[in-house]
Amino acid sequence: MTFTLRPAFSTDAAAFHAVMMAAGMDPRSSWTRTTVGDIARSLSLGGGFLACIGETAVGCVSFRPDGVETLTLNKLATLPDVRGQGIGAALVQAVEQVAAERGYKLVLLAVSQYNLDALPFYGRLGYVVDAAAEYSFRSPTSPRPVVLVKAVPNPLTKAVT
Ligand SMILES: CC(C)(COP(=O)(O)OP(=O)(O)OC[C@H]1O[C@@H](n2cnc3c(N)ncnc32)[C@H](O)[C@@H]1OP(=O)(O)O)[C@@H](O)C(=O)NCCC(=O)NCCS
Repeated sequence: MTFTLRPAFSTDAAAFHAVMMAAGMDPRSSWTRTTVGDIARSLSLGGGFLACIGETAVGCVSFRPDGVETLTLNKLATLPDVRGQGIGAALVQAVEQVAAERGYKLVLLAVSQYNLDALPFYGRLGYVVDAAAEYSFRSPTSPRPVVLVKAVPNPLTKAVT
């Protein structure tokens, strides 16, 4: 099925929230307590994308700067019945493109201790665990998440052949 990506704004918070809540996250994760207002705030402080099939949102991701060098990737989800078609990977790559265009050095994300099965997905996309890195936007009431990072290629660096 063909999907398209488009930027998500705070006016998309309800559609974004519906995708997140349908993702089937472990109820112990702070993810499940995310409100539409939280998403609207997050989208206005950073940005995000919705993946759509026709007019229907089937995937979401947000991003938020943490200092001048790091762009954090948050709230990645796709609806269960569209998984395995590359939509999740495309959403991650859209955030990486934002990071490259805006001159960030690193994309950083956190995986909940209740969602460790997602680690191989990020590993395939080039993310590595950084035990020393901090996720600034972690929930204070949740166990420390696993933090993953990926260096953003410098667009000014050209391959020499
Ligand atoms: C993670 C997620 C966004 C991937 O979305 P997707 O649209 O299926 O992504 P893609 O099609 O690009 O990649 C799918 C691949 O990742 C693997 N994968 C994704 N999530 C996985 C998980 N939790 N456990 C094991 N493998 C997983 C799939 O098995 C698949 O592998 P394959 O290509 O070899 O078949 C989706 O599974 C999801 O919404 N999960 C629930 C929310 C979540 O965990 N978000 C991440 C928060 S850190």
